[in-house]
Amino acid sequence: MQGQKIVLIGPMGAGKTSLGRRLASRLGWRFMDSDQAICVKTGVDIPTIFNLEGEAGFRMREKEVLQELLSLPQNVVVACGGGVVLLPENQQLLRLQNFVILLDVSVKRQIERVGQDKNRPLMQSDDLVDHLKKMREQRLPLYKSVADFVVNTDSNHFPSILQQLILIAEQKLSIKSRLSNRLFKD
Ligand code: S3P
Repeated sequence: MQGQKIVLIGPMGAGKTSLGRRLASRLGWRFMDSDQAICVKTGVDIPTIFNLEGEAGFRMREKEVLQELLSLPQNVVVACGGGVVLLPENQQLLRLQNFVILLDVSVKRQIERVGQDKNRPLMQSDDLVDHLKKMREQRLPLYKSVADFVVNTDSNHFPSILQQLILIAEQKLSIKSRLSNRLFKD
């Protein structure tokens, strides 16, 4: 049987990994990060994959890993890379069966948090503000088209954002169990 999934999507620097890990721990669920899973599988880091195979190669690996993570038998909080919504196959999969939360963040905060990170190939640009703004224009409609819920993470007070996520998750999970109880009685 397939477990339940809470999937975190959103731009680089939104806090998907740190909030996802804490959310999973509070729910007593497993936590998986798609980038980390790709690195474990390939034995190399993300910049190396981009160098050797280009972004297209990375997206293929990301697609494979997403399918694997979403079919794990356990309840899992899955943090996805920022570009996961680019492939229509991934959009379809995310819409299908999962509870998807968009963690949204402003370009200003993205730059403050991860602007200097050499481990993110798409963060390297001579005009980072313009580059991230363009990326946001392209991706925001895609994020919104697959998300069940949007949480803004501009505040650096992660404990209160985590609290919001827990409430959303609990609400969603109890709705699910109430629904199945009713179906059972009917
Ligand atoms: C990417 C985001 C990264 C990583 C890769 C590409 C993107 O993940 O998947 O560098 O296209 O936005 P984070 O969102 O965790 O930084």
